[in-house]
Amino acid sequence: NIKAQTAKNSKKISPDLFGLFFEDINYAADGGLYAELVQNRSFEYGPTERSGWNPLSYWEYACLGFSYGQLSVETNEPVHRNNPHYVVLNVEHVGHEAKYAGLSGVGMKNSGYDGMVIKAGEKYSFSMFAKLLSGKSIKMKVILESKSGALLASDSFTVDSKEWQKQTASLQPSASYDTANLIVLATTEGKLAVDEVSLFPEHTFKNRPNGLRADLAQVLADMKPKFIRFPGGCLAHGDGLNNMYRWENTIGPVEQRVQQRNIWGYHQTAGLGYFEYFQFCEDIGAKPLPVLPAGVSCQNTGGTWRIGGTGQKAIPMEEMQAYVQEVLNLVEWANGPATSVWGAKRAAAGHPEPFHLEYIGIGNEDKITPEFAERFKMIFDALKSKHPEIIIVGTVGPSPDGEDFDKGWAIANEIKIPVVDEHYYTDPKWFITHQHRYDSYKRNATQVYLGEYASWGNKLRNAIAEAAYMTALERNGDVVRMASYAPMLAKKGFTQWGTDMIFFDNASICLTPNYYVQKLFSANAGDTYVGNVVVKDDRDSALAASCVQDSKTGDVIVKVVNYDSSKTKKIVVDLSAFKNIQSNAQQIVLVGNANAENSLEKQEAISPVESTVTVGKKFNYDAPPMSLTVVRIKTR
Ligand code: AHR
Repeated sequence: NIKAQTAKNSKKISPDLFGLFFEDINYAADGGLYAELVQNRSFEYGPTERSGWNPLSYWEYACLGFSYGQLSVETNEPVHRNNPHYVVLNVEHVGHEAKYAGLSGVGMKNSGYDGMVIKAGEKYSFSMFAKLLSGKSIKMKVILESKSGALLASDSFTVDSKEWQKQTASLQPSASYDTANLIVLATTEGKLAVDEVSLFPEHTFKNRPNGLRADLAQVLADMKPKFIRFPGGCLAHGDGLNNMYRWENTIGPVEQRVQQRNIWGYHQTAGLGYFEYFQFCEDIGAKPLPVLPAGVSCQNTGGTWRIGGTGQKAIPMEEMQAYVQEVLNLVEWANGPATSVWGAKRAAAGHPEPFHLEYIGIGNEDKITPEFAERFKMIFDALKSKHPEIIIVGTVGPSPDGEDFDKGWAIANEIKIPVVDEHYYTDPKWFITHQHRYDSYKRNATQVYLGEYASWGNKLRNAIAEAAYMTALERNGDVVRMASYAPMLAKKGFTQWGTDMIFFDNASICLTPNYYVQKLFSANAGDTYVGNVVVKDDRDSALAASCVQDSKTGDVIVKVVNYDSSKTKKIVVDLSAFKNIQSNAQQIVLVGNANAENSLEKQEAISPVESTVTVGKKFNYDAPPMSLTVVRIKTR
């Protein structure tokens, strides 16, 4: 019953189909993608973020060589009002007993996020803000030490300004070490104030200052994602009005950014802020998709959803005009000329050229209440009229089975929202049995952004179920405009969400089978879907396939998914409608035991295997049990 492919069987699909969703959950930002090694660098941790936290969390008072003095936290004259806490070191006496070849002094030690990974021969940029409170000058030493107190690297500088001044130093360890501590030590007597103590590897992704952890950023870049949505998820709207992620607070000098509690139970320095997100998108050729709150907080429950919620539901209507302006300002900041008010701030950060923002998301999984609808529409109308070039992505609640789904879609249809964001986390079987979900969606109407989805688990079976579903997303790429797996990053020992795409610790990265599936689809995407290329038994829902063509390269890409864990499935690939099929094709297969998974300890239990195969106009293929096969065929 399968006809040979004809022009009739091809259709244009979204060129932006597969991308990434970054949420600062599971320590994805601070302690994760953001390369800063010092934890609580500006002494802003507090008990409202996590019980027991205080401005000196992750810091220890350090007196070396029979020295003594005091350390206190103060707020009288901070570096900036947004960064109120700082430390005062009063060095009363510097002793003569030496720990490190004559070194004595008073200072403090930071243990980073469970220690700092340092590599022999690489350079680390230290900086801190300091001002002298008494004396003419104070000599400072900055040290990297091992757990047992061995000196790994050191540098020194002098503080002699009575105004806050940024001090810098460079550390180059001679040995690699995975759990180093940083010590900042005053080695002469006097009193000084210290804030924003920072240590970055000089080698960040693309060597950007205030940049990203190179290895983590690289595995994301390798996926060739078409877009990145950020900064969340629930993080975007927070759990109360004063916990919303306000983009304007996250640009400019890092020591001036507004820090706040992370809804997932930790802290946001905002060091990885909007500028860094946009820069990363540009660096890897992905379109930015910022998601801004729709003027209501998490689930619109009044902020009691998580510890520390502050109770207020929605931005009061009399403040909404100002909030709408904040959303409009983002477009000017991203796309306006360097001479515009907001474009000038982008230029001052080192990016005079526009960032070419195309998409803005408004809201995330919000409860579709009258308060939501009123505020969403205000933002939507203003954006549409001032910036018709921006594609607005709306929201339809947390689940396709929830009441917000229908209510959200009703609004989308009524006011013609270009794209809405659907979410689902569910059983792998659901992905197999719902492969036809989008076949019946209305074309030429509101499109779908499948902004969060995952089957519960990181075993190969989960990834292969997702792969089967992704062939259906390609088939429906004329109505599904974008899709992103969620969540993306999870730091071992710091997770709030069990199923994630990439696990990591300070030293290494575990790429899950789910990561490889996402990568194989996004790095092998096309902009035309061609039907009926793969001849298979369509009644077998465990066997899925798709064929796309990429107009830039001319490559034809066939994907075949076999979710059956024991049977090989036979298919025929019929390429007779394509001209110039080259016989040497690239084949990549992800296959293994259904229950196999990767871990930080055994990283590559499951990984794709690449080979060159010979293909003809028509060829047979045996899809192995529990596998995804990608065949990339040249036509030029
Ligand atoms: O991806 C984790 C969370 O799941 C997101 O923050 C939220 O949007 C969804 O409920």
